[in-house]
Amino acid sequence: MAVNTLIFDSGVGGFSILQQIRQAVPGLPTYYLMDNALFPYGIQPDNVLIERIVKLCVRACQEHDIDLVVIACNTASTLALPALREALEVPVIGVVPAIKTAAKQSQTKQIALLATPATINRPYIDQLIKHYGEGCQVTRIGSSKLVKIAEDFWFQGKLDIPSLKDILQPLAENTKIDQLILGCTHFPLVSKHIATLFPQLTLVDSGEAIARRICFVLTELGHDLEDLQQDNQAHQLITTAKIADKDAFMSACRRIAPYQSFNII
Ligand code: DGL
Repeated sequence: MAVNTLIFDSGVGGFSILQQIRQAVPGLPTYYLMDNALFPYGIQPDNVLIERIVKLCVRACQEHDIDLVVIACNTASTLALPALREALEVPVIGVVPAIKTAAKQSQTKQIALLATPATINRPYIDQLIKHYGEGCQVTRIGSSKLVKIAEDFWFQGKLDIPSLKDILQPLAENTKIDQLILGCTHFPLVSKHIATLFPQLTLVDSGEAIARRICFVLTELGHDLEDLQQDNQAHQLITTAKIADKDAFMSACRRIAPYQSFNII
């Protein structure tokens, strides 16, 4: 039996999560919904985001008979998970910054959170640090420019290294930091470049943990993961705005899953 899974992000960042999901459960049919009309999310007002995320996800769930929702966006998850869980009847899994993992791993008790300006200031993050921060000092670096840089890199393969260095300057200034949390799903797309600039840092993202969580939830729902792996693959791409260069877009997205085309919701 197919388990239609909705993966949601503002742009291509959620593909960093989808890649991990596809490794763990290759046969899971996934609908990737990208709200490119409102990209980037990290500079949008909270009330606009909540209403929009709920509306889009409810609509996608109805139209595609979705069984499981993955909010592959920290900016959305740290804000809208309660509203989504109230509006949807299916399980909702949210990607949030891996503060607990980083704090546990830190030897120096100095860690950094790299996320969108919206995410770093959310009360949800204060709570995560309070409960799971293990007394670590947390340097918060918020950047929407890096989201844009990662998105452009994903499509065009060219990375703006001087801007990357500039954004990550706080990491150069505090050499005691030993863990860097990639608290935006766009950032694993440029993790190799960050690791080259800061080889002393351990980069921590949420991809593997989310893939494990999905396996757990699917099993709880009574699905046999082996059976799912034998299902025919049916992946769909949904955007909220027109795409200028459709061919380039499709060929970039096909690096992740065998998409045939995309629909605009
Ligand atoms: N990829 C998203 C995140 O994890 C959102 C980036 C944005 O649109 O600002 O936060």
